[in-house]
Amino acid sequence: MGLRFLLTGAGGQLARAFLEILPECGHEVQGFDSKALDLTDSMALARALDETRPDWVLNCGAATKVDLCESEVEWANALNAQAPGHVADLCQERGVGLLHYSTDFVFDGSKGEPYAEEDTRRPLSVYGASKSLGEDAVAAAGLEKMLVVRTQWVFGPGGKNFPRAILAKAREGGALVVVDDQRGSPTFTLDLAAMCLELVEKLEVGEAQSGVYHAANRGEMSWFEFAAVLLEKTGLQDVELNRIGSADLNMPAMRPASSVLDTKKLEAVLGHPLPTVQAGIERYLALEEGIAFKD
Ligand SMILES: NC(=O)c1ccc[n+]([C@@H]2O[C@H](COP(=O)([O-])OP(=O)(O)OC[C@H]3O[C@@H](n4cnc5c(N)ncnc54)[C@H](OP(=O)(O)O)[C@@H]3O)[C@@H](O)[C@H]2O)c1
Repeated sequence: MGLRFLLTGAGGQLARAFLEILPECGHEVQGFDSKALDLTDSMALARALDETRPDWVLNCGAATKVDLCESEVEWANALNAQAPGHVADLCQERGVGLLHYSTDFVFDGSKGEPYAEEDTRRPLSVYGASKSLGEDAVAAAGLEKMLVVRTQWVFGPGGKNFPRAILAKAREGGALVVVDDQRGSPTFTLDLAAMCLELVEKLEVGEAQSGVYHAANRGEMSWFEFAAVLLEKTGLQDVELNRIGSADLNMPAMRPASSVLDTKKLEAVLGHPLPTVQAGIERYLALEEGIAFKD
């Protein structure tokens, strides 16, 4: 089944993973970065769709700078709330499928156990609220083929992300200070792209339904624990690592305390467990650091 994909936000870390795996899996993809296709420009979106004539749009572009969104509310809403609605309407008019990304930050993190797809959304930040509005806008378009995938703590080769920042800091010398009161599932881009592609393929053959899905690597940890695993696996375990509370950091945006996503719905559709966090971290380090891990 060779499908044709149009990819937005092609410079981003998740988009890069799709650009790598789609051709390997026998699909065609045309990626547009933010300069080639501005998601807030509906005319340009329509043109790109008409020129590319895709089967599916993978909407990876977004305003992802969570703290900046607190002060740049208009920008956050234009990209995360309104643009997904325009993309969805254009897809609906053309009979094109849409895979759109949302976030664990639509939840407030107080549930005390993993969040299911139907749990009530209570975002704590402008970013979370804008992504939640984006979900509603996509749903309102009434697409026949529509997937809203909520994910979390995404990291992958080439991206500006937590592992890259921690390892760079560790190598600079001095002690590291990392928050220990936020828990989630670090999710490797190549695993995430692969599970989402599998979901699209299942939907194409009638083995999956449109709707909201949670997708993340299996397992959970705090940012502090994530940092400790990274240091240990790269032989930097002697670097001093200290815990801190989120309140001490005084970040502009509030983050959920525990926003682990329940991925049972996706696992049931795919018919297998999702890759573990540990495996995702090792695959990342193998690619970025050239470290060989035993299977
Ligand atoms: N990263 C995470 O931990 C995480 C967690 C949960 C959900 N998500 C969601 O997953 C999706 C992918 O995230 P990611 O980690 O791959 O993000 P990313 O690396 O920050 O990529 C986002 C991309 O969006 C592009 N973009 C910004 N403004 C745009 C515009 N006006 N038009 C078109 N593209 C624009 C950016 O391009 P420029 O760099 O050129 O601005 C960037 O390449 C997003 O929907 C995000 O909300 C991410």
